[in-house]
Amino acid sequence: MNAPTVLVTGATGTIGTALIPALRARGVTVRAMIRDAGRPVPGAENVVADLRDPASVRAALDGVDAAFLNSPSAPDAADLQIRFADLARAGGVRRLVLLSQYAARADSPVRFLRWHAEVEAHMATLGLDHTVLRPNLYLQALLGLADTIAQGFLAAPIGDAAVSAIDTRDIADAAAAVLTTPGHTGHTYTLTGPRAVTHTQIAEALSTATGRHITFHDTSAERFTAALTGVLPPWQLGGLVEDYAHYSEGEAAEVHTSIPDLTGHPARDLTDFTRDHAAAFTPAATTA
Ligand SMILES: NC(=O)c1ccc[n+]([C@@H]2O[C@H](COP(=O)([O-])OP(=O)(O)OC[C@H]3O[C@@H](n4cnc5c(N)ncnc54)[C@H](OP(=O)(O)O)[C@@H]3O)[C@@H](O)[C@H]2O)c1
Repeated sequence: MNAPTVLVTGATGTIGTALIPALRARGVTVRAMIRDAGRPVPGAENVVADLRDPASVRAALDGVDAAFLNSPSAPDAADLQIRFADLARAGGVRRLVLLSQYAARADSPVRFLRWHAEVEAHMATLGLDHTVLRPNLYLQALLGLADTIAQGFLAAPIGDAAVSAIDTRDIADAAAAVLTTPGHTGHTYTLTGPRAVTHTQIAEALSTATGRHITFHDTSAERFTAALTGVLPPWQLGGLVEDYAHYSEGEAAEVHTSIPDLTGHPARDLTDFTRDHAAAFTPAATTA
């Protein structure tokens, strides 16, 4: 029997780049969905497709046994993912694994959590073998702040609230397990790190790993918005501020055991992340 083929969307992204080797290690054929033929992903069969181009998605899904659905937050993200799920069902894909977000809820004040909930609800109507992964805040999101962290500052409107932030390598490991083993149909797994951490603890872990003094500054939503205006598109920035309002209420602090349960290894800790990425938070790395 041929090895099953798994389509990975968002193949060049944070989760996709870790998921492809994790799937290969499990002996499946990986098809990476990419937008730029000039930037193929190593270790996979590459197919060029765009979620905004249904014909290209239909072709990418041809002959696929299972698919991993992940795309960036955008005002039309729910529509694009719902269309992908419909095309997957029409194309005979047997298993669909959706990357959602911790606490996705139709009536959430956080726009990201509302759009993820809309996709989850639609997928549940399709009669597909499907599984939802709801990861909490990515530790790797800190890499996007590497410039200011290298200058000694971590600033966010979160106060002393703790978040059970997760390493994206663990999300990829969990996704690989769910895509390749039975028993996950209809399940929703909340994916978290092994403990909830405050931003003060994150700054301390970054200081230890880099040997530099990095301090956390609690900031207001208004100052945070002003600092990122022009850096992020307005819809994304609005959503990020809503995310932080939700974190600052202590609403993202639960610790779940899904990572060890699904992967058979402990969830990576904040200190594993800061040790493995210390070089990215040093001035030499960020000015190079
Ligand atoms: N950041 C967090 O802390 C966090 C926490 C929980 C959940 N999430 C969820 O994670 C998801 C991914 O977020 P991310 O920002 O980290 O992105 P990402 O997965 O690192 O990157 C986005 C991927 O989507 C691809 N892509 C973009 N537009 C596309 C299109 N029109 N058609 C096909 N592929 C397209 C990109 O490809 P190119 O290389 O071609 O651009 C890239 O591979 C979001 O749904 C977010 O809500 C994030």
